[in-house]
Amino acid sequence: MSRVACVVLAAGMGTRMKSDRPKVLHQVLGRPMILRVLDSLVEVPGMKIIVVVGHEAELVKATVTASYPGKRVGFVQQVRQLGTGHALATALGSIPGNCPAVMVVNGDLPLLRRATLMRLSRSHARRRAAVTVATMELADPTGYGRILRNGKGAIQGVREQKDCTFDERRIHEVNAGLYCFSRRFLEANISRLRAGNAQKELYLTDMVAMAAHGSSGGVSAIEVKAHELTGVNDRAELAHIEQALRDELATRLMASGVTMMMPHTIWVEQSVEVGKDTVVEPGCILTGKTRIGRRVRVGAGSIISGSEIQDGAVIKPYCVIENATVRRTAIVGPFARLRPGSDVGRMAHIGNFVELKKTVIGTGSKANHLSYLGDGVIGDNVNIGAGTIFCNYDGYGKHTTVIGDDVFIGSDSQMVAPVEIGSGSYVGSGSTITRNVPPGSLAMGRARQVNKDGRAAILREILRARRNGGDGT
Ligand code: UD1
Ligand code: CA
Repeated sequence: MSRVACVVLAAGMGTRMKSDRPKVLHQVLGRPMILRVLDSLVEVPGMKIIVVVGHEAELVKATVTASYPGKRVGFVQQVRQLGTGHALATALGSIPGNCPAVMVVNGDLPLLRRATLMRLSRSHARRRAAVTVATMELADPTGYGRILRNGKGAIQGVREQKDCTFDERRIHEVNAGLYCFSRRFLEANISRLRAGNAQKELYLTDMVAMAAHGSSGGVSAIEVKAHELTGVNDRAELAHIEQALRDELATRLMASGVTMMMPHTIWVEQSVEVGKDTVVEPGCILTGKTRIGRRVRVGAGSIISGSEIQDGAVIKPYCVIENATVRRTAIVGPFARLRPGSDVGRMAHIGNFVELKKTVIGTGSKANHLSYLGDGVIGDNVNIGAGTIFCNYDGYGKHTTVIGDDVFIGSDSQMVAPVEIGSGSYVGSGSTITRNVPPGSLAMGRARQVNKDGRAAILREILRARRNGGDGT
């Protein structure tokens, strides 16, 4: 492929999104729209990419730059958004001299594929056209620019919906928003664009009629499948595209051996890997760089992001797991919360209403009920009783609780960190542990119990008298 530059139009506000955020930064299945467009471009060898930014330019630039460090993505600022033709004119001066062809992509085409770009570019080079447009045939063409053809089928121009006559509106062939231009044709003609149309904008699409009637190579076209170049203009279209992406992904996962119960209720992003014979129950949300192994069960309503769930683990319903690791055959939940940095060891059990934060749980250890375990390092075969709390924060700093192997922590105990419980030791229920416990010892940190013979009746007498207005003595 000879050198091609690509201009991505992303300066518009996206009025129809009704949003404070620029349209191209809205996420499509977990990835900003503009990045999905650029993903297909950055991999084309030698391609020079220029993004036209305008509305919230700094935000758009920052998002793009952070995602492709060291890649050849340049920016041009379109200060006032006077139309797609004006946007391209703004970028023209930044295209390197050795690019005879200029591809243009609307920034709101998140399903664009690299293969389509290559096809467009090849077709353009072969036909030596002034412009090659990508077209598609839509059952409902509402909102799109219509492709106008003459009696011989040659493309004569593109008419925006708002400028269409009644008859033109009935055309189902539309402009997809992806083009390849001869650079020379662009430079010679783009200044001829005029805003005499319904939207008072400089339409890039008017270049097509200029090419059709000019002497510089004419118009050529490639046809693309309808769903690939669906433009996202409002939130309903966004949801629609996400649904299509999710359906495709679910189909792929199921084909690879994953059971998905009620797949249309499951949100899985493309960055998620799921192994064979894993079952994902209804209503789960799996996002980011999450890796789920084989034979895992992910219970209904669980939310897992950026985490690793190893083979044979069971996540019972309604768990929230973020940037954590659950090792082989561990059991978590229902209703457990694993916060970042948590690591649940092999065969360990984390039960209901247990919260872990940056805590490592050793092999076979259990914390089955109602606990907060923050900043802990817990050995193997440890039993953490119900209601245990690691008091990890003193209002200024975070401190660590270290528990050795084979320790038993009685229910309703607090470990006031920093503190260490030696291996094999035993902490009595209801203890507040403030000092290190040596290995093998029994620790009890609570007031000694007293029983007073017959005092219950006397106490009742006193309380009753108090209620009835006496002084109770
Ligand atoms: C555009 C096409 C239409 C086509 C459709 C395909 C024009 C005039 N119309 O319509 O023929 O069928 O896409 O989806 O091109 N932008 C700028 N600067 C501006 C205006 C827009 O950078 O001044 C950017 C927007 O951010 C957006 C892209 O250009 O990413 C397209 O603009 P949009 O308003 O969505 O055009 P459509 O009305 O969808
Ligand atoms: Ca659009």
